[in-house]
Amino acid sequence: MNRIGILTSGGDAPGMNGLIRAVVRTAISSGLTVIGIRRGYEGLLSSDIVELGPRSVSDILQRGGTMLFTARSKDMMTHAGQERAAAICKALKLDGLIVGGGDGSFRGAKAISEHGVNVIGVPCTIDLDLPASDYTIGFDTAVTTAVDAIGKIRDTASAHERVSVVEVMGRRAGHIALWSAIAGGAEEVMVPEMPEIDKDAVVRQILENRGKGRKHNLIIVAEGIGDSAALAAEIEKITGIESRATILGHLQRGGSPTVRDRMHASMMGYAAVKTLLSGAKNRAIVYRNGDYIDINIDEALQGQSSPKPKLYEMLKMLSS
Ligand code: F6P
Repeated sequence: MNRIGILTSGGDAPGMNGLIRAVVRTAISSGLTVIGIRRGYEGLLSSDIVELGPRSVSDILQRGGTMLFTARSKDMMTHAGQERAAAICKALKLDGLIVGGGDGSFRGAKAISEHGVNVIGVPCTIDLDLPASDYTIGFDTAVTTAVDAIGKIRDTASAHERVSVVEVMGRRAGHIALWSAIAGGAEEVMVPEMPEIDKDAVVRQILENRGKGRKHNLIIVAEGIGDSAALAAEIEKITGIESRATILGHLQRGGSPTVRDRMHASMMGYAAVKTLLSGAKNRAIVYRNGDYIDINIDEALQGQSSPKPKLYEMLKMLSS
């Protein structure tokens, strides 16, 4: 083991910089050379690389985004692209490649590994939707940002006695929505994994709340549910209560990572390099039961991510 590569891929997640820093410093302290690959797999396919020294990762731990940039690569979804990516890793003489990203990035890593490149995946996504790991880097910062914004929206919703529909990120995953609904004290939440909580259920809840004298309603909606402005308009039409929609969007992906994200990023980056040094092949670093372990990259892609029903039950209990 002499030379390793690192890239970040897919949607950026606060903490990716902490991961890069931990990988670079652990690897260099262990006598390795580290090659940074810019713009994820897109950059790998065009050999967009830079050698990373210990000082090149100074002053990034506290920053959102990723100093290596990121991209979603269409070419990496093709067999030809995957083959070429593996050939480039070999031409760059990489003895291992660390990939920080979500499930799409892990699928890319697995595909490269099938062409003989040793890969280590590190879960980085604000969506918390890699079921193999209890935590994915970026989630805590994203949900903290969402809850901060929801608190502000709540103030104005209360002042006007309105319904506020707040759309948070998560096209296929409802973790951010459910956590921010609980931590933001919302009345209802809509997530892709629970289609039974639909517009009619939300309207029923709002009418019931009105019957109990509740003056405002905060409804958190995951991005994957669809048009939140149309939902707010329909709620207003049916209930007669003024309703507004706010889409929080990409502000949830930015900002300085929380302590939790910096810690997970540092530990997972350190563990990724140690795993490579141990001679293990094609692994993913995951957080389980309070510990960091490495599992087969295939295993890391198995299972279905879903918010815990118990959390939804608790939201309903606490907002009743
Ligand atoms: O996967 C992270 C995520 O922020 C999702 O929550 C969201 O659905 C998606 O990325 C948005 O992607 P883009 O940045 O391409 O708009």
